[in-house]
Amino acid sequence: MQIAMIGAGYVGLTTATCFAEIGHEVACHDADSERIRQLETGELPIYEPRLEEAMRRVVASGKLRFSRSGADCVSGADVVFLAVGTPAMRDGGIDLSQVEAAARLVSRWLKPGAVVAIKSTVVAGTCRRVREIMAEERQSLDFSVAANPEFLREGSAIEDFLCPDRIVIGCDDRRSASLLSEVYRPLTERGAPKVLSSTPNAELIKYAANAFLALKIGFINEVADLCAQTGADVGPVAEGIGLDRRIGPSFLRPGPGYGGSCFPKDTCAFAATGRDRGARQFLIETLIERNEKRKAALAGRVIAQGGLRKGSVVAVLGLAFKANTDDVRESAALTIAPILQKAGLRVRAHDPKAMTNARQWLRDVEWADTAYEAAHGADAVVVLTEWEEYKNIDLGRLACTMSQRVVFDYRNLLDPRAVAAHGLIYFSLGRPPVSPAGKSTRGRVSALAGTRRRVAAPARD
Ligand code: UDX
Ligand code: UDX
Repeated sequence: MQIAMIGAGYVGLTTATCFAEIGHEVACHDADSERIRQLETGELPIYEPRLEEAMRRVVASGKLRFSRSGADCVSGADVVFLAVGTPAMRDGGIDLSQVEAAARLVSRWLKPGAVVAIKSTVVAGTCRRVREIMAEERQSLDFSVAANPEFLREGSAIEDFLCPDRIVIGCDDRRSASLLSEVYRPLTERGAPKVLSSTPNAELIKYAANAFLALKIGFINEVADLCAQTGADVGPVAEGIGLDRRIGPSFLRPGPGYGGSCFPKDTCAFAATGRDRGARQFLIETLIERNEKRKAALAGRVIAQGGLRKGSVVAVLGLAFKANTDDVRESAALTIAPILQKAGLRVRAHDPKAMTNARQWLRDVEWADTAYEAAHGADAVVVLTEWEEYKNIDLGRLACTMSQRVVFDYRNLLDPRAVAAHGLIYFSLGRPPVSPAGKSTRGRVSALAGTRRRVAAPARD
């Protein structure tokens, strides 16, 4: 089939490449012509594992091409996907201006009988709105609008596309149901489950799924804090919870608070829709507040537990909102690093992929080429992203290069006993503390801190 993709961001680019991989002829357009120029020269504007090789392959085979012209991209397509941004507005509601602009562009060139499928995450009623906009723009045009939300996690987006838990197709007519089912036939034939429903149902499935996943993370984060206070270990607790098939094991890893381009904005939009429509989502409203407070509270713990003083150096390892991506949108580091700086600490930062993006957001940070360079002479190390390279860090080398030897592992990446065996003072999330001497770290760190003029930690929430 002939497919057009509007938007060459994380989702558009990965999806366009994967559609070409499963045999379709795909043309991809982006309003940012510089981005298209880059792509035409084979340069990727984002980092996503396996994407570069896959893209090269499908471009070489002629299945995927990039186009600066909307007309050229759209006019031959049977299905046009919209994968443009849907950012949050100040009040938490969703800004649909990019979707509306893309709908106007598409309506000019769409061939009769074609389907416009919205991939971007949009609130219930957006398909209807897009249909109205397009009908106003080109009154005689015969077309359909469908919702086809994406469920791609950055870092494993290709795998998520090719082996999805389900494909959600929201259609209000037979034509779009049939054309979209045809688009995904190579995957459904291999056993991918398909959920065929109405457009408002599909729109809501996406929001409710992301809100629920975010809720699981918020829940385990609070359970981790409870474990820390009760001598329990969140690892086995999460495992024990997750083995119940009604709960499931995924999204139960405690961390510094969820981030990224989706959960923060999708939970806000979900809550805003609830407020607008008189069906408040109280659980999600609380979750949003708790998630933000968590990032600040963890910064406070570094200050309070690390025995740090003004001018102390903190090495922040991990700036991306999760591993295997260069994306820093809403990442914990962007909140935590400035709080540490405000408390008078020096922040040195490292990330294997996300430093270029992070530089646009963080000021007065010392940038390090390696984790060891960041930790050199540092008083504390704070791990914020679960990169494999940090998991495999040489603890002996880390211990030798640091000054005060306190490690805050906010992804529970490291083995507490191995860390303690190297003489490091270790704090993780919801796991019993282990000191270098095998005793509780609490006394040890306050003793360490007692001789210094410590900086004040922000008030506990
Ligand atoms: C976006 C949405 O924000 C998200 O809600 C949805 O689920 C998937 O699509 P992402 O791919 O991460 O996510 O967005 P981004 O990386 O910002 O890419 C959007 C692209 O659309 C940009 O390259 C932008 O230039 C392009 N765009 C925007 C257009 O091509 N046309 C427009 O009119 C507006
Ligand atoms: C999310 C959705 O999972 C995906 O279906 C799509 O809708 C886009 O949005 P993404 O934001 O790329 O994907 O990453 P995801 O793996 O969902 O992680 C989101 C955030 O939650 C990250 O900050 C991550 O570190 C955090 N997280 C995730 C945890 O803290 N603990 C977990 O157990 C899982």
